[in-house]
Amino acid sequence: MSPSLWPYKAPSSHETMSAIIRRRSTNKTDVREAALDGLDLSSATKILDLGCGFGFMAEKLAGEVAPDAELLGVDAWQSNEKQFLEKVSSAGRSGRFHCVELDSTLPWENKSYDVVVCCFSLYFFVEILPEVARVLRPDGLFLAVTHSEHSVAGDLPAAGFEKAATGLLSLTRNFSAENGSELLGAHFGDVTRVNYINSLRFEKEHLDELFTYMRFKLPFLLPDAKPTDEIPDNLARYVGVAMARSGEVVVEKNDAIFRARRPLCH
Ligand SMILES: C[S@@+](CC[C@H](N)C(=O)[O-])C[C@H]1O[C@@H](n2cnc3c(N)ncnc32)[C@H](O)[C@@H]1O
Repeated sequence: MSPSLWPYKAPSSHETMSAIIRRRSTNKTDVREAALDGLDLSSATKILDLGCGFGFMAEKLAGEVAPDAELLGVDAWQSNEKQFLEKVSSAGRSGRFHCVELDSTLPWENKSYDVVVCCFSLYFFVEILPEVARVLRPDGLFLAVTHSEHSVAGDLPAAGFEKAATGLLSLTRNFSAENGSELLGAHFGDVTRVNYINSLRFEKEHLDELFTYMRFKLPFLLPDAKPTDEIPDNLARYVGVAMARSGEVVVEKNDAIFRARRPLCH
């Protein structure tokens, strides 16, 4: 498994990190609510969540779909199954979980899903796009949430993590706010984008949260690091200087929500 997937092995630490992001976000609309805003999914019965993790998106999506809907979560880590199923059942829907490291194929029939969702995951396996279009029903919806290239590396170069910044940027460039419309346009006849403008604001009293957030991201910064390792000295120093200068650390975190319809392959 690639080091960039290690942070997602433990659903509880991923969930903690996700809660910190929501607490520290300057955009007070939950990104999932922004993604689902204005959609009528009340007749959708077959839902596929690719790279589902602990069920972050499934938790909100489940409440929007038909009462007899089934949500199938797919993730490279088996450890996500329990949390994913709990999130779906807490919304009163039934769930299933399939553990596989996705590449460029999906094992499901043509036109078999009403909704396919990739929330902060498609950049790990963007070669799957033609298959997403194939398994989606002609009137189905593909919902993809991703990062902006301009905010993903943030202050990492200034903090001495030039190489990690380049790596993160190239991962995001597989499917980003900036190139998502073009990539989706090759497979769907109707693509819309909604920008989700956001930043994370950590003040002095949120230092613990900032370090928890950074620790979670460590495997992206240092190839052999584990989320349990200590923060590298240069990063801790960078935070100290920023806090002393302005009393806060602000991390830009702009995202985009794509809604793609009319798969071209049918
Ligand atoms: C950033 S997390 C997003 C999880 C969830 N969708 C959310 O919004 O919180 C990315 C997820 O994609 C999964 N993932 C990454 N590459 C994968 C692959 N090739 N096949 C299956 N799952 C993958 C990871 O294990 C992780 O759970």
